[in-house]
Amino acid sequence: MVFDTAVTRKLGIGIPVVQGGLQWVAYAELAAAVSNAGGLGIINALTQPDPETLKKEIRKTRSLTKYPFGVNLTLLPSLNPPDYPAFAQAIIDEDVKIVETAGNSPGPIIKQLKNAGITIIHKATTVRHAKAAIRLGVDILSIDGFECAGHVGESDIASLILNSRARQELGSTPFIASGGFADGYGLMAALSLGAAGINMGTRFMATVEAPIHINVKQSIVDGDEHQTTLILRRWKNTSRMFSNNMTAKAIEIESSSKTGEFSEIAPVVSGVWGKEVLEHGDIQRGVWYAGQVMGLIHDIPTVAELLKRIEREANEVLANLRHSVAAKSKL
Ligand SMILES: Cc1cc2nc3c(=O)[nH]c(=O)nc-3n(C[C@H](O)[C@H](O)[C@H](O)COP(=O)(O)O)c2cc1C
Repeated sequence: MVFDTAVTRKLGIGIPVVQGGLQWVAYAELAAAVSNAGGLGIINALTQPDPETLKKEIRKTRSLTKYPFGVNLTLLPSLNPPDYPAFAQAIIDEDVKIVETAGNSPGPIIKQLKNAGITIIHKATTVRHAKAAIRLGVDILSIDGFECAGHVGESDIASLILNSRARQELGSTPFIASGGFADGYGLMAALSLGAAGINMGTRFMATVEAPIHINVKQSIVDGDEHQTTLILRRWKNTSRMFSNNMTAKAIEIESSSKTGEFSEIAPVVSGVWGKEVLEHGDIQRGVWYAGQVMGLIHDIPTVAELLKRIEREANEVLANLRHSVAAKSKL
């Protein structure tokens, strides 16, 4: 199947599937595997401790693929924020052509990257934020529905409605559907809604090349669509996580805290433990991101097998649709 969408054209890729920036997962190995298989692989800037190390990871990715890849830069509220402009400068210095931005107040960083001629994919969980990003000059939106792993926003609008609203409201700016996608059926549904491609996070965690512990991959395969929990709503930082003992503890603190001080829950939701889970495989050790799409994930293929399968399924959908529509027209 030959895909020709605004996203394949703008990004120079063969299949309109993007691998979202995944903290502690999106290293060079995974990103390069996705790009080599025809999608867009993305490495995560803040998974690297500093801009110099990020430069090395970019060079490593380039040594593993000759195809386009991107870097994700996520701007989240923090008591001790990273030096975002320095990370952006490292990306510019390394001549990266595509950046995925996400998070709050991205204006100055988007400006810095756009001035360097970089193509920007910006993630948004509402149409209002998507429109604001268009005014800032982004090239492509990634529309993250409520099903998604990680930061779901505070509006709780799932992908079916959110992407249809994006089609109605975003004019000529192309968008990628994100949250709840794992296969060719989802890809074709997204294209039908008006998206120019899909973004996948949880699905790429359960692949051979994802550099995380096998227990985490197997938990995703064993888990289903009921296996996620939303935490941190009280602090307007709602996050979808794999349900485990730590999310249960977090929910207990969130509902019982008299003060509402973040410091009460901070030790339970610390990213330090989430990183440990991914590296060492004790899935109860900390909170870690996963999406409802777990219900659709039943194996751990290589990235190339996965993207080939998505393409095959997309072909099947097209054939079935042609058949259904033809059958109806005979009536
Ligand atoms: C382990 C993990 C880490 C993530 N880290 C980030 C991140 O640092 N920045 C970001 O913009 N999105 C992050 N996300 C969200 C994904 O890029 C993507 O938007 C989301 O997974 C899509 O939903 P899906 O899991 O249903 O495919 C993360 C998701 C996962 C599963």
